[in-house]
Amino acid sequence: MTDAILALDTVTKTFGHGSGAVHAARAISFSLHAGRALALVGESGSGKTTCARMAMREYLPTSGRILYKGRPVEAAKSAEIARYRRSVQMIFQDPFASLNPAHTIAHHLRRPLKLHRPEIKGAEIDVAVRELLQRVRLDPDLVAPKYPHELSGGQRQRVNIARALAVKPEVIVADEPTSMLDVSVRLGVLNLLNEMKQEMNLGLLYITHDIATARYVAEDIAVMYAGQIVEWGSVAKVIDNPLHPYTRLLLSAVPDPEVRFDDPKARLRPEEVEDIRRRSAVPQDEIIEMEQDHFMRMI
Ligand SMILES: Nc1ncnc2c1ncn2[C@@H]1O[C@H](COP(=O)(O)OP(=O)(O)OP(=O)(O)O)[C@@H](O)[C@H]1O
Ligand SMILES: [Mg+2]
Repeated sequence: MTDAILALDTVTKTFGHGSGAVHAARAISFSLHAGRALALVGESGSGKTTCARMAMREYLPTSGRILYKGRPVEAAKSAEIARYRRSVQMIFQDPFASLNPAHTIAHHLRRPLKLHRPEIKGAEIDVAVRELLQRVRLDPDLVAPKYPHELSGGQRQRVNIARALAVKPEVIVADEPTSMLDVSVRLGVLNLLNEMKQEMNLGLLYITHDIATARYVAEDIAVMYAGQIVEWGSVAKVIDNPLHPYTRLLLSAVPDPEVRFDDPKARLRPEEVEDIRRRSAVPQDEIIEMEQDHFMRMI
């Protein structure tokens, strides 16, 4: 595998102090590579967005390091930080909130081009806007002059992807990019992210509570619960052969028959479910390599 573009190295984030402290992330390590996607999967409150915000440098870790091309970003000089910010772009859950209702789609795409791509000038800017829209499979003639409210949720999310691509990022962090979209357009947006990853050699962090969607986008997966990554490795190995009881629990709730973990033993009584949650939430340092490219935390 190529060297990591971005890595979290044993990163911890604690909010608050003493008895009221929330351990949102405990000893989190993962890395993002060019042309590969990591799915960070877990239910609400497991710590996914906290990890994303640390990767974006919006939160500083309580302990541990964030590495950009092998170097700690905490120690970076301001020019490097500017490069880092350009290089790591975010796509948010709500495709509407991130667009300004007063401006056209063309305006939204011209701005990052003018700010971050000084080599593109004058009439070339509108050519680049058209290319960006074509890249995300939108018709430039139809979409460029429109305002955000004139587009569907799926189209708006494509515009957000185009805007992220405008600055030529190396990494895209997509935090639940389809959870607010109509079910019918979700797969299209996931496929688009997958294509962008391949065509533009992007590292992608795909955050989702829906483990079934991981295999549409990602090569690698990390399952998170109560601030810890409990199981990780290749998507195929983890989804086809889940080993941690919490991963099995997540998969047993998946309605998609293609990925259902169809072991009758996986159908658990409520008290068994509670027991798995309780045991999975205990901080645990010991890691077991189950097979090549497949790890779980002791439970
Ligand atoms: N700024 C903050 N201050 C205090 N606690 C926070 C803060 N941000 C997150 N938390 C807490 O940290 C834990 C993890 O939250 P986080 O938002 O990372 O979860 P998530 O996996 O993204 O959940 P969701 O699927 O609901 O988006 C939660 O208990 C949350 O309440
Ligand atoms: Mg979140």
